[in-house]
Amino acid sequence: MKKEVFSQIIHDVHASVAPEYGDIAYNGFVRPNTLEHWNYIRNVKNPISKLVLSYMPNRLFTLLDAGCGNGQLFHLYTELGAKAIVGIDFGKTMLKEAQKRASLSKMCFIPILGRLEDLAFIQDDAFQLVNFYGVIEHLPDPFVVLKELERVIAPGGMIIFSVPRKASLAWLTYALFCPSLESMMHRRPIIQRLKHKMTLYRFFRNDEIERMIGSLSGMDLLSRIPVAYGGMVGVIPSRPLRELAFRGRYAALDMWNLFFKYLGFIPAGEYIAMRKKVRS
Ligand SMILES: C[S@@+](CC[C@H](N)C(=O)[O-])C[C@H]1O[C@@H](n2cnc3c(N)ncnc32)[C@H](O)[C@@H]1O
Repeated sequence: MKKEVFSQIIHDVHASVAPEYGDIAYNGFVRPNTLEHWNYIRNVKNPISKLVLSYMPNRLFTLLDAGCGNGQLFHLYTELGAKAIVGIDFGKTMLKEAQKRASLSKMCFIPILGRLEDLAFIQDDAFQLVNFYGVIEHLPDPFVVLKELERVIAPGGMIIFSVPRKASLAWLTYALFCPSLESMMHRRPIIQRLKHKMTLYRFFRNDEIERMIGSLSGMDLLSRIPVAYGGMVGVIPSRPLRELAFRGRYAALDMWNLFFKYLGFIPAGEYIAMRKKVRS
């Protein structure tokens, strides 16, 4: 599939769900005892907080949220010390939603409508922290974007990115159950849908992830944390059905994850934190 077609589909699918995308309501509140709550606490809040609190010596930082979507993570990052957030996304409707969130919480937010592949307008070493969550799997060429993000991070600054892993439970369930992103937009033959499904939401082998880490030659690896976000929770594709199936039994998901980890698997993917080397 051509890169432009790929990007257009990714854009349209996200635009169609812009207001309701994600787990976190506008005021940062998540209804307790829901699947969203489980997912947010275990797979978003805890790992991101751990990484920021462990590795960001400066508690007041400028954040670049690369592929910020509707800004569902702004609240968390503000709590963790972001004093200003620049959000880049190629979705106009997503950015509008992000602006709504930011103004409700009176955050200092600069929205930029643009492609992550074209960051030439941002000067080198501009940000202390880059959040790059839930985006890499939608990019035709993740390496180009990672390299650009490395450039705009200040020496001593940090990137946190998430990567879905192949041979994980999420990968299996996504392949088997989740509807193709493209099939939500157009009706296509089943074989084509299966093929596009695996290319539009990509999972990466461990050696591919290691290549990503290695490609950021100006950065040191700080931490890799396995998580169970996204696809794993999407085992049951319809939200009301998911709610019904899991109602009140989210602890079972923890057990399932533990069991999976015990067998040596990664439940869904990883957070990767890296720090830019300080030039001497
Ligand atoms: C799955 S959403 C994640 C949003 C946000 N990071 C979050 O965690 O809530 C992916 C976002 O990346 C944006 N995106 C995907 N490819 C992009 C690109 N090449 N340039 C800019 N934004 C892109 C989409 O519009 C979408 O808002």
